[in-house]
Amino acid sequence: MYKKIMIILLAVVLMGMITGCDVLNKADDKAANKESPAEPASGDSDEGGTSNMTTDNHQVELPEESLQKGDNGDAVQQLQAFLIVLGYPIEKTSKYDEKTVWAITDFQLQQDSLDNTGIYDEAVRSKLLAAQEGALTFEVEKGLPLVETKQTDRGSEITGNPYEILVLVNKHHALPEDFIPEDLVIPEIRFPFTEDLPKKQMRKVAADAIEEMFAAADKEGLTLFGQSGYRSYDRQVAIFAANVEKNGEEAANTYSARPGESEHQSGLTMDVTNAEVGFDLVIAFGDTPEGKWLQEHAAEYGFIIRYPETKVDITEYQYEPWHIRYVGKKAATEIMEKGISLEEYLDGLK
Ligand code: DAL
Ligand code: ZN
Repeated sequence: MYKKIMIILLAVVLMGMITGCDVLNKADDKAANKESPAEPASGDSDEGGTSNMTTDNHQVELPEESLQKGDNGDAVQQLQAFLIVLGYPIEKTSKYDEKTVWAITDFQLQQDSLDNTGIYDEAVRSKLLAAQEGALTFEVEKGLPLVETKQTDRGSEITGNPYEILVLVNKHHALPEDFIPEDLVIPEIRFPFTEDLPKKQMRKVAADAIEEMFAAADKEGLTLFGQSGYRSYDRQVAIFAANVEKNGEEAANTYSARPGESEHQSGLTMDVTNAEVGFDLVIAFGDTPEGKWLQEHAAEYGFIIRYPETKVDITEYQYEPWHIRYVGKKAATEIMEKGISLEEYLDGLK
């Protein structure tokens, strides 16, 4: 009898141990499953993160506010965690850095309905959620491949993200020679000529904004004209060569950009003018009612006066009251209110 009881007890203990091990194994499996989807492709771990967000697909949420280059904080980290789960090889830095801009731009370039800007907003949010649910397809790097930073023969850094609306294009930062924006359109604005020349074009996001701006100026009784928007790399080769022929290289480069270094190739720029100055691009335009209105209101539509009178030492170009550049409303408002250059604004985000 005593022997029988001992055998039964032993069997119960053994079974308990086996089941316990099984439970532990299952717990280990779950932990492993939970961690793997969120592991950044680069292999970097999330060190020092403050968010208590789990790495489970279903519990990674997306921030509701708009975010863009230079923004910091938990919301940015949340967005980065989400992008990592989707397979983007970025890091959770809590700062909306170049790589985050790249990931968002790459994703936007694969969704027809999204503007290509590098900015995270409500429209991007809903598409990212759809991607997580498998309701739309995209492939990391299919929209904008990651490239190594290269330099032009003259030493200017060639940007890897020519689509970013905060892209810096100046005497030290160039666009890729083969960059032709894929979203060029002709904005419905007034031009002093009728032919459908390529220079009427702008990228969609800038074209929408300039249409809105011209309509607002019209309401004030002001008559703006678009004179010159998108220019291909080859067109800039011809323009710069003609200016060098006329004035010599050094003088030409105070008002005309070298090929690759012109914002006109970005599709985010338009030279605007009016009848009072004979539709020319001249400094006197800045003193006309249209020029003054532009200085005061361009930012409300996401544009800046790119080459201000007071910043020639930084932009390295003469004052151009006619050359407006789209950077989005947030950046434009700060730049125009503070009276700074795009170079200074971008430095402040670092
Ligand atoms: N006029 C500006 C600097 C350009 O040529 O792009
Ligand atoms: Zn211009």
